[in-house]
Amino acid sequence: MWTDTRATETLGLRFPIVQGPFGGGPSTTALAAAVSNAGALGSFGAVAMEPERIEQVVAELRAKTTRPFSINLWVPIRGEDDREITPEAAARLQARLAPYARKYGLDPNTKPVPGARFERQIEGLLRASPPVFSFVMGVPDPAILAEIKKRGAKSIGTATTVDEAVALDEAGVDAIVASGSDAGGHRGSFLRPVEQSLVGTMSLVPQIVGAVRACVLAAGGITDGRGIAASLALGADGVQIGTAFLATHESGAPIAHKLLLGTPHARVTRLTRVFSGRHARGIENAFMREMEEHPEDLLPYPAQNDATRELRRAAGKAGRAEHLALWAGQAAALARTAGAAELIEQLANETDRALRQSRMGPRGSP
Ligand SMILES: Cc1cc2nc3c(=O)[nH]c(=O)nc-3n(C[C@H](O)[C@H](O)[C@H](O)COP(=O)(O)O)c2cc1C
Repeated sequence: MWTDTRATETLGLRFPIVQGPFGGGPSTTALAAAVSNAGALGSFGAVAMEPERIEQVVAELRAKTTRPFSINLWVPIRGEDDREITPEAAARLQARLAPYARKYGLDPNTKPVPGARFERQIEGLLRASPPVFSFVMGVPDPAILAEIKKRGAKSIGTATTVDEAVALDEAGVDAIVASGSDAGGHRGSFLRPVEQSLVGTMSLVPQIVGAVRACVLAAGGITDGRGIAASLALGADGVQIGTAFLATHESGAPIAHKLLLGTPHARVTRLTRVFSGRHARGIENAFMREMEEHPEDLLPYPAQNDATRELRRAAGKAGRAEHLALWAGQAAALARTAGAAELIEQLANETDRALRQSRMGPRGSP
């Protein structure tokens, strides 16, 4: 059976499917629990959360499911995330954002509030001790991975290149997400600049499979059973799917964002730094086009992210897609509207069918 893989065995799942974590809002415990209860791995993106809130989320998930689930954090990129921002640069960005802030009745002079720090988040996460710890943007310190192992929990790292996968494998993670450049959301590149780390899922997965011992989860552009069957054919032990779960009823994505998924508008996605200061893939909109005319005013992550946070929140509430970060992968136009459990059932049936058809030949011909 295609469901019997090293990923289902290692992570304790019925299906080798991981719902990708969504940092910064769209993750809900309803989504992660529904996914886990349906036999896949539900995930919760906690990058924007203080440790106390992370502990609450884990407790909520434990109340909603007895199955494994994961919590995801962003590992800090030293020398990048801690760059000094001059007051002049901060003021330039604030002036650039002021017209948008005014549109939503926000005070354009409010100082951005810095986000939660990884060192405190990881302490909260270790206290909460979820069954699976998931990471992106780097290799967690050996001491952290040792603490996870000590708890009998599993770890998942994220790689955008073969070198990153090898670094994660050498550190001893249990599974590696091979995140192709097709994927929605932030690029997790940490060894080389993003521009030098853009490898599509189809090219990345078999190369990572050949280079590591850990389980490999293909990610990027997978929205139906054909993508799962293709990933297994490339040697992956399972998949991580983001955008297709973002479109489900249980996801916390703003309605204006969900309404675009599964439509021809979602065919044009691209990488941008305008929302967070770090490259991420989303559906093109006015904020991207306008802010990209002034690249000199953008700040690096996390300062840009902190500066645009309230604006993004207000745009979401107001249902204004033109100012939202519309994160989506390159297959977003294929996403469907469904409940999470229903989606998993559809994915499983489609994978069965795709694998049967691939044995019969193209489009089922004998
Ligand atoms: C809205 C959104 C937020 C995301 N946030 C995170 C995150 O915080 N951490 C992470 O590891 N991956 C994050 N991702 C990546 C997904 O977990 C997943 O790997 C990716 O979406 C797979 O590509 P696909 O969207 O083409 O399925 C995010 C993706 C989206 C669409």
